[in-house]
Amino acid sequence: MPQSEPTLLDGGSYVDGCPHARLAELREAGTTSWQPGTVDRTMSQPEVMGAWFVHRYEEVKAVLRDPATFSSQRRTVMLVDPAPDRVEAMANMLINMDPPKHSRYRRLVAPIFTPRRMEALRPRVEAIAKGVIDKIASKGTADGINDIAAPMPMRVIAELLGIPERGEQIFEISNRMVGAVDAPDPETRRELALEAALDIHLLGQETAREKRGSPDGTILSAYVNGTLEGVEGDQPGATDEEAGWFMMLMAVGGNETVRTATAQAIRILAEWPDQRDLLVSDLDRHIPGAVEEILRYRAPLRSIRRTASTDTEIDGQTVAEGGKVVCNFTAALRDPRAFDDPDTFDITREQPRTQLAFGFGEHYCLGANLARLQLQVILREIYSRIPDIHPSGEVVHQPTPLIAAMLRMPVAFTPER
Ligand code: HEM
Repeated sequence: MPQSEPTLLDGGSYVDGCPHARLAELREAGTTSWQPGTVDRTMSQPEVMGAWFVHRYEEVKAVLRDPATFSSQRRTVMLVDPAPDRVEAMANMLINMDPPKHSRYRRLVAPIFTPRRMEALRPRVEAIAKGVIDKIASKGTADGINDIAAPMPMRVIAELLGIPERGEQIFEISNRMVGAVDAPDPETRRELALEAALDIHLLGQETAREKRGSPDGTILSAYVNGTLEGVEGDQPGATDEEAGWFMMLMAVGGNETVRTATAQAIRILAEWPDQRDLLVSDLDRHIPGAVEEILRYRAPLRSIRRTASTDTEIDGQTVAEGGKVVCNFTAALRDPRAFDDPDTFDITREQPRTQLAFGFGEHYCLGANLARLQLQVILREIYSRIPDIHPSGEVVHQPTPLIAAMLRMPVAFTPER
């Protein structure tokens, strides 16, 4: 690694967006690469431990399908280590659990996320997306992040939670959570993010209390009113505290990811005008393929972490017990061993059955069907009404190895008449 290049764990590697060329070089040099730890001033928690990055498609899948060796629980899936006294509390969040605990909690909510249940939300999602584009369609310019990409996902989550009247409140808190990265110094950043996280946690607990005892088929209701099946007999569902953590998971995992994919869609389709014209020529036919290809071409979630529970090996590379392993979706989704001509954006591409952008194995994204629905609906709304939309000024990327988010992206388009 040249002296001047920061480690891939440092936000500084992402100030210009995804470092695709550098990732391709590493992926072709080997399955894994060691990325040294860093003190990263662009992050709210500056101490980041060194980790083995896994860059290839099959090997990323192999890590994710083996939770006994590669634990989510041991030090959480975040790229930065939480303070040791926080690890136990954070293991209350589904994404940071290992089997068998994980499987028991996941079963409480998995039936809510089926394609049929998500499809039933379509009319509400369509109404929300229409409202978003109605506000800007006649103007000719907009803030691509705050006006277009951001307003939909948290409102949809409020619908899913059965608290649509709290949509605005949830949206406001999630904006504070995401906006914290803009704060001038790491201390303020940490404080703002923590404050917003606590607010969303409390809202989850409050909703859980309201739903407890009166099941209505919504997520937190299922989480607290269901039965945790176990070898030692069945137990009551999640506590209010655990429901607060689930709410937080949705506010982070179900919000920033969808907003990032929406903003990236606008950017990518402007970069590939032939593909945009093809999409616009037959939206019914091409929207599903376009969504899959956008998720492949620029994975919204760049990376997720595991911790080795034992001494192990990844394609010949020894990883010692306690070692950090980062599954890098950005590189794996452009692996030429898995995709022909991977750097070409092609909405007619035959997609593999499993879309790795949503993970793989035990923790495969519960919200994948909902994310697909939202992205299909918002892209249809945008490309049927303002199809020549494109970035019209400086794009500012969020400097983080975790998510391909943008902080600012002004856009312009021919106003709708
Ligand atoms: C384009 C949008 C999205 C992307 C790219 C995405 C990506 C992912 C990935 C890669 C994982 C696996 C993490 C791991 O293996 O540790 C995951 C898990 C999860 N996602 Fe998503 N996600 C998206 C949207 C959503 C939405 C809309 C929701 C819910 C409203 C959601 C809820 C979850 C939950 C609850 C988990 C944890 C599942 C578990 O631990 O069993 N996601 N997501």
